[in-house]
Amino acid sequence: MGYKAKFKVWRGDASGGDLQDFTVEVNEGEVVLDVIHRLQATQAPDMAVRWNCKAGKCGSCSAEINGRPRLMCMTRMSVFAEDETVTVTPMRTFPVIRDLVTDVSYNYEKAREVPAFAPPEGVAPGEYRMQQVDVERSQEFRKCIECFLCQNTCHVVRDHEDNKANFSGPRFLMRIAELDMHPLDAHENRAQEAKTDHGLGFCNITKCCTEVCPEHIKITDNALIPMKERVADHYYDPILRLFKR
Ligand code: SF4
Ligand code: F3S
Ligand code: FES
Repeated sequence: MGYKAKFKVWRGDASGGDLQDFTVEVNEGEVVLDVIHRLQATQAPDMAVRWNCKAGKCGSCSAEINGRPRLMCMTRMSVFAEDETVTVTPMRTFPVIRDLVTDVSYNYEKAREVPAFAPPEGVAPGEYRMQQVDVERSQEFRKCIECFLCQNTCHVVRDHEDNKANFSGPRFLMRIAELDMHPLDAHENRAQEAKTDHGLGFCNITKCCTEVCPEHIKITDNALIPMKERVADHYYDPILRLFKR
């Protein structure tokens, strides 16, 4: 059965904006993105929203719904009471372009700073061999849809704009961990770079990134903490240090 819901949607641009009130029809089975589309169709044709797949796979429709970072296309209206006001705001960590659309270039810049997989010397593509356990370990990280909700949520950049220059965020520290755990990756300095170039030390394991990941990737436990251990081994393991000498 349909009902009328109360929505507050942030409207504005880089120069400022405010929450705008709407009363809008909601039908059974709908998600927040359906309601935003209905607002565009009936009341606010110029409302800006980024989306693509409506299936939780393109990572485009990230926003904050009642203060919680979520995908709009994967947030069912049935999780809210019918008399509850649903507030939709853009991701807070990135600059607003317009309405619900933010400029996520920070993430692309950080992505470019991670050196790509370096194939092992003398082994042609198709000849790579690795243990199933190693395949499975990185498979979890490959589920990432680059929605950047983890990047938006991590307090290191959410509350401290200045840290953006020196901190690549959970998504890209996870990418470094994935490559460092890859038995065939020939790039030698991943652990060192995670510390010096990507700011792994800023992460104090609050796990907020893991909590908001729509792919349920255990970012902190399976990528960031093991990466911290690898960094500790690289810098402080007395036996390794002896070998390095
Ligand atoms: Fe989104 Fe999860 Fe990937 Fe972060 S790790 S960008 S939250 S899918
Ligand atoms: Fe930030 Fe996640 Fe670490 S939220 S502090 S990157 S555990
Ligand atoms: Fe693709 Fe929501 S529209 S993840």
